[in-house]
Amino acid sequence: MTNRQGADPLWAGRFTEATDAFVEAFTASEHYDRRLYRQDIRGSRAHAQMLNRVGVLDDAETDLILEGLDGITAEIEAGEFPWSASLEDVHMNIEQRLTERIGDAGKKLHTGRSRNDQIATDVRLWLRETIDELTRLLQRFQLGLVDLAEREAETALPGFTHLQVAQPISFGHHMLAWYEMLVRDEGRLRDTRARLNVSPLGSAALAGTTFAIDRHDTAQALGFERPSDNSLDSVSDRDFAIEFVSAASLIMTHLSRMAEELVLWTSPMFEFIELPDRFCTGSSIMPQKKNPDVAEIVRGKTARVQGDLNTLLTLMKGQPLAYNRDNQEDKEPLFDAADSVCDSVRAFADMVPALAVKRANTREAARRGFATATDLADYLVRQGVAFRDAHDIVGRAVRYGIEQGRDLAAMTLAELQAFSGAIGEDVFEVLTLEGSMQARDHIGGTAPEQVRQQTARARARLVSGDDGASAG
Ligand code: ARG
Repeated sequence: MTNRQGADPLWAGRFTEATDAFVEAFTASEHYDRRLYRQDIRGSRAHAQMLNRVGVLDDAETDLILEGLDGITAEIEAGEFPWSASLEDVHMNIEQRLTERIGDAGKKLHTGRSRNDQIATDVRLWLRETIDELTRLLQRFQLGLVDLAEREAETALPGFTHLQVAQPISFGHHMLAWYEMLVRDEGRLRDTRARLNVSPLGSAALAGTTFAIDRHDTAQALGFERPSDNSLDSVSDRDFAIEFVSAASLIMTHLSRMAEELVLWTSPMFEFIELPDRFCTGSSIMPQKKNPDVAEIVRGKTARVQGDLNTLLTLMKGQPLAYNRDNQEDKEPLFDAADSVCDSVRAFADMVPALAVKRANTREAARRGFATATDLADYLVRQGVAFRDAHDIVGRAVRYGIEQGRDLAAMTLAELQAFSGAIGEDVFEVLTLEGSMQARDHIGGTAPEQVRQQTARARARLVSGDDGASAG
């Protein structure tokens, strides 16, 4: 293994003194952009093969380069690659090593190319794979929610507005609300993927190259839709990274809302659910504690990802065309956002479907707080009372119930009739939790039958996979 600390940078020709040691460390990115080595080597392979096809590299040189790149991949994966900060970044580390391994043919690889189109290509390739991985995780979480929704379609839960008991809902209906958020999240990733999937390779430093390159060839080899249309734009804009982190921020915002509910629901003040012990931790001082830390950490990571989004937007806003070194600062926030969102979705995909609903508690909670008051008002409307009058009648019945400490369903017929003569014996059917839930029997409503139909539609969508990530 060659020790390359202190090696001359590949651009050293016009310089008369060595780089200041602090500046070398300050400007280096190899310690984090080495994460792109697979994409960098894939891009170099496609570039070399294209240069061969258009006659810039001969067959022997091309074979040497391809073999050399394979050897470098093996070296990196064995942890034996001599990474060096003097060589700045992943691109120059690999290129220099290639020349060390294969000799002069290695010096020809950079013909008609710049690190500017190289990094724009690498990040797009990396992000495309990351989006595909995140899409698979989202789909696994979606499927877990659909399973849970089906299991708990009949389970009554208080539905809240303003965190006050509003109307009884099916627990499954609540899970499907989470599912819907994730379906839109998946769509945003799909849109981002489609827009980033164009090849910057061949843009070179900013203006293109004087060699007769074939940009369609490299675009196709790398699984891109087409070559990009403007060299200045494609080496400089990082809007695709911003779009991804924006989509990731929305995913995290959704997960954070779920996290908040999971934390509330596990609290002894609610006691709606139990999370498996393997997803919780204890307290070093309070022996009784079982804390929903996974949910809290997901809620906390949301802040990081939103910070990453802000970093990238601010990074871009003052940049003139074309490439500026500022863009090197895009990697860490992008990687951080991607790691945070993938880990968070994975944690929830594992944990949420494994929660146990404390059905007696959710049911009891739904019965408190006059959750069927709207049902009584709707009943009066069906008896011919105008809705605004019905609202007032039920409001007075609720006030009486609060004074008496009793729910509407616990009142006698005579007590209810004191508020309206339109109330008959059949009123008690609409005052039960089951009656209330079943009555909302239309698409998008909380009736258990509707929940089951929705889970069936969701399952068909997930199994058909036509919304899923495409290969690349
Ligand atoms: N490491 C740089 C980045 O991440 C790519 C290299 C471009 N450097 C340059 N001096 N043109 O953007």
